[in-house]
Amino acid sequence: MLNTLAVANYRSINKLVIPLGRLNLITGPNGSGKSNLYRALRLLAETAQGGVVNALAREGGLDSTFWAGPENISRRMRNHDVPIEASVRQGPKRLRLGFAGEDFSYAIALGLPMPLPDHVSYFSLDPEIKRECIWAGAVYRPASLLVNRAGPMIRAREGRDWDVLAQHTPTFDSLFDQVGNLRSSPEVLLLREHIRGWRFYDHFRSDADAPARQVQLGTRTPVLHHDGRDLAAALQTIREIGDPEALQNAVSDAFPGARLHIEPVQGGRFAIEFYQEGLLRPLSAAELSDGTLRYLLLIAALLTPRPPTLMVLNEPETSLHPDLLPALARLIIRASQDCQVWVVSHASRLIAALQQDPECNCIVLEKQFGQTQIVGQGMLDEPAWNWPD
Ligand SMILES: Nc1ncnc2c1ncn2[C@@H]1O[C@H](COP(=O)(O)OP(=O)(O)OP(=O)(O)O)[C@@H](O)[C@H]1O
Ligand SMILES: [Mg+2]
Repeated sequence: MLNTLAVANYRSINKLVIPLGRLNLITGPNGSGKSNLYRALRLLAETAQGGVVNALAREGGLDSTFWAGPENISRRMRNHDVPIEASVRQGPKRLRLGFAGEDFSYAIALGLPMPLPDHVSYFSLDPEIKRECIWAGAVYRPASLLVNRAGPMIRAREGRDWDVLAQHTPTFDSLFDQVGNLRSSPEVLLLREHIRGWRFYDHFRSDADAPARQVQLGTRTPVLHHDGRDLAAALQTIREIGDPEALQNAVSDAFPGARLHIEPVQGGRFAIEFYQEGLLRPLSAAELSDGTLRYLLLIAALLTPRPPTLMVLNEPETSLHPDLLPALARLIIRASQDCQVWVVSHASRLIAALQQDPECNCIVLEKQFGQTQIVGQGMLDEPAWNWPD
């Protein structure tokens, strides 16, 4: 489980340290930074898939993702005594992402390359991984550091000494890309597998050509694909090796009197048949309404027989009628008993229903002077966090 997430210098997030629980709900007005926080978490996930540099390029480049305000906003700026202006930077400009887990914690710092006069490269705008650290426990201290990557050099603690694991790591490769070369550092492998276990669901497609509407290949599918291309197989897998009763209950909770059937069709393919009260024949996935299809996708995602280490749902309420949201909240709360869950939402009925769970950690974001902040978080409520210097 993640206990803390820390982000600095990323879009509207100048500095943010967030305490996490089993069930986390991120909410706040438009433009408060919910999606930025969600993207920061996705970027962290990309480091373990070997794609963080590319993901930043897709976002428009590191330079445009840096926080566009001053490093510090002084009390006098806040009181409008002096205009908001840049201060002298404390150190080089870095995008920093990190988290504290149960046993190990991790942080990465990305920056722009130093221009070299005699070296011309088409990739001179690629961000570089400047620093990565894995340490024991939640709060970074030099004494708790286990693996330290500074530029191309990776070292791991070996008793009282430091063992050099790699000296020429490319600036675009993360520690996690080097696992095969890093003997004697089980923490890197453990953390990589942990992060690779995070699962993101973000706006399922429901248009006429959406993968979820097609007749689909039917092989055992304990994990629904993020675009829903294996919905029928995922639902049947829940039936056979998951919790079929929970599946039927989830369907009837949302659509009273309805029932799902998966029909094998020619060529090892599966089709969804959705029986509803009052109809003489079942409807196929192609005929379902956007909301019904999305809801079935959410059921398949949340009742997975193979729960991830972290399940992230970005605005799952999209195109659902408010009356469906309490049932969705019940599904999410149930899922949070098997894995850590993170929900970004601004649907008031979903928020209210999730808050019925005493375990729900509700993070309300707001923007002050352009910076994303947590409503009501004082200095003392912020979880302890130090960035590796
Ligand atoms: N580089 C940057 N520096 C500072 N602020 C930025 C930067 N890039 C984007 N922003 C700000 O971040 C805000 C957008 O945040 P985000 O998209 O996370 O909002 P949101 O809470 O998801 O809103 P919505 O509910 O509308 O989806 C915008 O107000 C934008 O001005
Ligand atoms: Mg958003």
